[in-house]
Amino acid sequence: MRIYEVKDYQEMSRKAANIMFAQMIQKPDSVLGLATGSTPVGIYRQLVEWYQKGDLDFSKIRSVNLDEYKGLSADNDQSYAYFMRKNLFDHVNINPENTNIPNGLEEDAQKECGRYNSVIQELGGIDLQLLGIGNNGHIGFNEPGEVFEAETHCVALTENTIQANARFFEKIEDVPRFAYSMGIKNIMQARSILLVASGESKAEALEKTIYGPISPAVPASILQLHNQVFIVADEAALSLVKERHGL
Ligand code: GLP
Repeated sequence: MRIYEVKDYQEMSRKAANIMFAQMIQKPDSVLGLATGSTPVGIYRQLVEWYQKGDLDFSKIRSVNLDEYKGLSADNDQSYAYFMRKNLFDHVNINPENTNIPNGLEEDAQKECGRYNSVIQELGGIDLQLLGIGNNGHIGFNEPGEVFEAETHCVALTENTIQANARFFEKIEDVPRFAYSMGIKNIMQARSILLVASGESKAEALEKTIYGPISPAVPASILQLHNQVFIVADEAALSLVKERHGL
């Protein structure tokens, strides 16, 4: 794991966007694994800025998103499909046909999960997977549990995640209880992984991710076994790592 400590959210966004920039320059038809949540917003803003300056080209880029709420349509302003359009896709020259997100409206979980696994496979796997981290150590919507779920699956969100994500909804009852998420194997097969974290609320999860035992109780801890992981995190998110282990 290569850990980059940065000062704050803004620096985290810039540094992480730089890593994505390098990937896109090296391989203009890269398959980017994309993430949602509040953490990547600044990265997408930076990429849009570079695109507008003419420094980046998304015309050949393919993308696969990590997850989507089950039951929300792509037009629902809380869906991750909507988030991606608003924060990135609508502002760059990516071909919408080259973007992939689980279909939240597909009721048949087995069918949708199978379809999504095939999508990833047909793209030839993911070149660079961007990841945020939940304050319980989840990645995508791989919640803490007894086992690592390998492939795309339907997840019952934990109370912790429902509460953490309630801030985006009018009321907590509106937060969907289920989601489709890429599995740990889908993520681990990415050729490189970029995990970003900002703020003290992520400090515990990040410490366990980097130094804890590898366990499905902290899904992100599996990243210790990947040979190309970049972690870009700010001082607050790395505070416990530094306190307990130095950096
Ligand atoms: C959601 C997403 C994750 C994200 C996490 C943290 O649960 N499914 O992909 O990493 O939230 O979100 P935030 O970046 O807003 O803290």
